[in-house]
Amino acid sequence: MSPTTKKSESTKAQSSGGDRPLEGKVVIVTGGNSGIGEGIVREAAAQGAKVVIDYVSEPEATEAIIKDIEKAGGEAVGCEADVSKVADLQKLVDTAVKEFGRLDVMVNNAGVEFGETLATLTEEKYDLLMNINLKGAVFGSKLAAEQMRKQGDGGVIVNITSTHEDWPMPSDLSYCISKGGMRMLTRTAGVELGPDRIRMVGVGPGAINTPINADDTPEETKALEDAIPLGYIGSPEEMGKIVCFVASDAGTYITATTIMADGGLMQKPGAV
Ligand SMILES: NC(=O)c1ccc[n+]([C@@H]2O[C@H](COP(=O)([O-])OP(=O)(O)OC[C@H]3O[C@@H](n4cnc5c(N)ncnc54)[C@H](O)[C@@H]3O)[C@@H](O)[C@H]2O)c1
Repeated sequence: MSPTTKKSESTKAQSSGGDRPLEGKVVIVTGGNSGIGEGIVREAAAQGAKVVIDYVSEPEATEAIIKDIEKAGGEAVGCEADVSKVADLQKLVDTAVKEFGRLDVMVNNAGVEFGETLATLTEEKYDLLMNINLKGAVFGSKLAAEQMRKQGDGGVIVNITSTHEDWPMPSDLSYCISKGGMRMLTRTAGVELGPDRIRMVGVGPGAINTPINADDTPEETKALEDAIPLGYIGSPEEMGKIVCFVASDAGTYITATTIMADGGLMQKPGAV
């Protein structure tokens, strides 16, 4: 292929989409029935995607999201799958192919946070967290990439990491290790997948208003708000828009890196 052909193809890709940049794309979102995952699911559907919503609890929340999406003329299905199990991740990919014919975007969003230090950490908690946060993202990426390679026309894998892919938080040791691992998954597998035109991008939220932070005290919330240069805690809707931008043809030249979405938190000296 000549460089001229490549340039014209890329121009064509970037000019498509209009106000529904994900029109017809098939998207899986793990942990998709609450918090940031729900924000991504709702925005992807609003942008024209057909969505597979992965969940492990609260099936009624999944049903309510599907109902809203269908009411607006969109398409979504739920799939109960535990991302710490490779067979369940395969079930998710198979569901996308069975229901919608293909897979274009995999969002590895499911995650847990337990809050333990090196001193308090147990083997059981460490294994549980790492199997969900890191193993789930690694094998979710592997299986999604296998499907995308079979299709032969590229794809996008988005890993929801965190400011803590980079930023130590001693009160949450294994969480930080898992997000640091996702950082290197994104960079390393992103390089491997480049020739197949499969992009892998991390999105690193700062403090976002979701159930994962439900037990923060009002004092902790106020301290966080004070530490964020933009002055407020982010929303799942904002994260949904950023993930969909990255996944769309507006993001065709982004891969093997992380977009931080933290209201400037990491750059404020002494923020935490
Ligand atoms: N909220 C924040 O401030 C923040 C900041 C940075 C990163 N994140 C990341 O965003 C992602 C989403 O978190 P959230 O804040 O929306 O909280 P959340 O608790 O609403 O979302 C986590 C989701 O993962 C699901 N999940 C848990 N175990 C699972 C498993 N084994 N298989 C499949 N799904 C499972 C939960 O059911 C839930 O839907 C997480 O990876 C989290 O680390 C959140």
